[in-house]
Amino acid sequence: MPEYLRLGVNIDHVATIRNARGGRHPDPVRAARLAVAAGADGITAHLREDRRHISDEDIVRLTRDIDVPLNLECAPTPEMLDIALRHRPHAVCLVPEKREEKTTEGGLDVAAQGNQLSPFVRQLNEAGIRVSLFINPDLRQVEAAKQVGAAVIELHAGSYCEAVIAGDHAAAAAELALHYDAALAAAGCGLEVHAGHGISFDTVAEFAAVPQVVELNIGHFLIGEAIFSGLDSAIRRMRGLMDQARAERLGARGA
Ligand code: PXP
Repeated sequence: MPEYLRLGVNIDHVATIRNARGGRHPDPVRAARLAVAAGADGITAHLREDRRHISDEDIVRLTRDIDVPLNLECAPTPEMLDIALRHRPHAVCLVPEKREEKTTEGGLDVAAQGNQLSPFVRQLNEAGIRVSLFINPDLRQVEAAKQVGAAVIELHAGSYCEAVIAGDHAAAAAELALHYDAALAAAGCGLEVHAGHGISFDTVAEFAAVPQVVELNIGHFLIGEAIFSGLDSAIRRMRGLMDQARAERLGARGA
C-alpha cells in the first residue's frame, strides 16, 4: 500500500461560477495555482462538449501555466481526441457524457464499447498521455479497461457518496465492498487505481483507506466549501483527512 495518496483538485465549478456572468472572474487558473499551494498534487478539468464550465482557452492556459500534472477529463469523441493530442496533458480521463445530465452520471461501459474506445486509448498512449477510464466498481469493467490498454482506472465514487448522504448504511457498505474488490482486481492486473466523484469531508476517509487507490479527484465539494472557509482551507482540510485515513490504515496493517 503506497503511503502517499495524491489529491487531484477539479476546478470545473470555478468556471461554472465565472460563466454564470461571463467575463474572467473567478479565474479557474488562479484557483488551480491556489490549489497547488494548498496541497493539490494535480489539477483536473473536464472539457465538456457543451463547454458549460471549462473552456478551450482554460485548457490552453492550464497546460501552459500550471506546473503540476493536468488531468483532462473528456468524452471519447474525435473532437476531444484532437484537443488532447494538441495540448498533450499529463493524463486524459475518458468519461461518458450526456448533454442533459447535470454531472457524469455513471462510468463508461468499457465492456460493451471496448471496440470504439480502443482507438482513442491507443492514440493517446502513443502520444505519451496517460489514459484513465472512469468506470463503475465492476469487475467486468476492470477487465475490459485492461484489455483496451488503459494504464489507469478511476472508480466512480458517486453511488457510495449518495448512499452516505441518504443515510443508507447497507447500500453504502455494499458499494464500498465493490470498490475494494474492483481496486484489488485492477491493481492485480497492473492498472493504477484512482477514485472520484461526489467525495466530501464525510466520505474521503473511506476511499483513502482502500489500499490500492493512489489518487483521489475531488471538485464540487471543495469549490462549494470554499464559499464558507476559503479554497485554501477546504483543500488543506481535505488533504489532512486523506493523510490521516491513510496513516491509520497503514498503522492498522502494521499492528
Ligand atoms: N472524477 C471524474 C472522472 C469526474 O467526472 C468528476 C466530475 O467532473 C470528478 C472526479 C470530480 O467529481 P466532484 O466534482 O463530484 O468532486
